[in-house]
Amino acid sequence: MKNIKEEMTEEKNCIGKAVCRDECLSEPIIPVTPVTSAEPVTPVIPVTPIEPEMPIIYDTHAHYDDSSFDEDRYSVIEGLRAKGIGCVVNISADMLSIRESIALAEKYEFFYSSVGIHPHNAEEYNAENEALLYGFSNNEKVKAIGEIGLDYHYDHPARDIQKKVFAAQLDIAAKTGLPVIIHDREAHEDVLNIIREKAEGLSGVVFHCYSGSVEMAKELFKMGFYISIGGALTFKNSRKLPEVVSFMPLDRIMLETDCPYLAPDPYRGKRNDSGYLYLTARKISEIKGISYEETAAATTENAIKFFGLPPALN
Ligand code: NI
Repeated sequence: MKNIKEEMTEEKNCIGKAVCRDECLSEPIIPVTPVTSAEPVTPVIPVTPIEPEMPIIYDTHAHYDDSSFDEDRYSVIEGLRAKGIGCVVNISADMLSIRESIALAEKYEFFYSSVGIHPHNAEEYNAENEALLYGFSNNEKVKAIGEIGLDYHYDHPARDIQKKVFAAQLDIAAKTGLPVIIHDREAHEDVLNIIREKAEGLSGVVFHCYSGSVEMAKELFKMGFYISIGGALTFKNSRKLPEVVSFMPLDRIMLETDCPYLAPDPYRGKRNDSGYLYLTARKISEIKGISYEETAAATTENAIKFFGLPPALN
């Protein structure tokens, strides 16, 4: 994330120079007004229009702060609107990525951010960071708590730490009214048990990169939860997920890339970005026997409602 940090330093330098010029040329001296975090130091980059005939889709789970975008982050992001991407929710996973993700959301009008600590980083969670999470969640571009949950695939850190941190962050979601993005890997039963305890206070729940059974999906829908579908749906060996998609109600589906991971076929194994999201949307349409336009409209509407995003900016 060298790029974002370097740029932040430059922005501060630029302001410094502007102040100097005022002091040299104008009478009387105009006092410097302090720059607060509520006032972005550079103007937000406004959206560029999407072609009217192009169905707009929303990427509800991306990691553009990932180092694999260090070389070309801004050119990739600035090319997304031309590919029909209405909004991107950039997802954080630790205290550093929270700052980087919010910086992207403050830079681009069509970007939003989540705040949360991924189960792998659960050991970062402490009273000081918890207070910061509450503070960050007040930012108007922050639209969710996530990704949070349990990951028993690597089993690191210990399960009891993961569970404690997951429950604590569900409390943040309940107190701030923000919906939650769930990471559940090989931990279905414990994830469900913890969510059930807290479900009443939550404004919305989406399971990202869903890998559970058809039965569990049915249970999630009964509880009013969402599933976001990514590139794994297009993989040739994908069995359970197409079955889940075939019966899942259209008003419960959202689209996600989880980029730079999980690029859809035929780009599997390459770096993913939201420009490939149409391949996942196309696969959903095929499985459900509906038009691409219908998939785009339904998933976009769901994302707007779930995260409280603006209707497709154009
Ligand atoms: Ni992710």
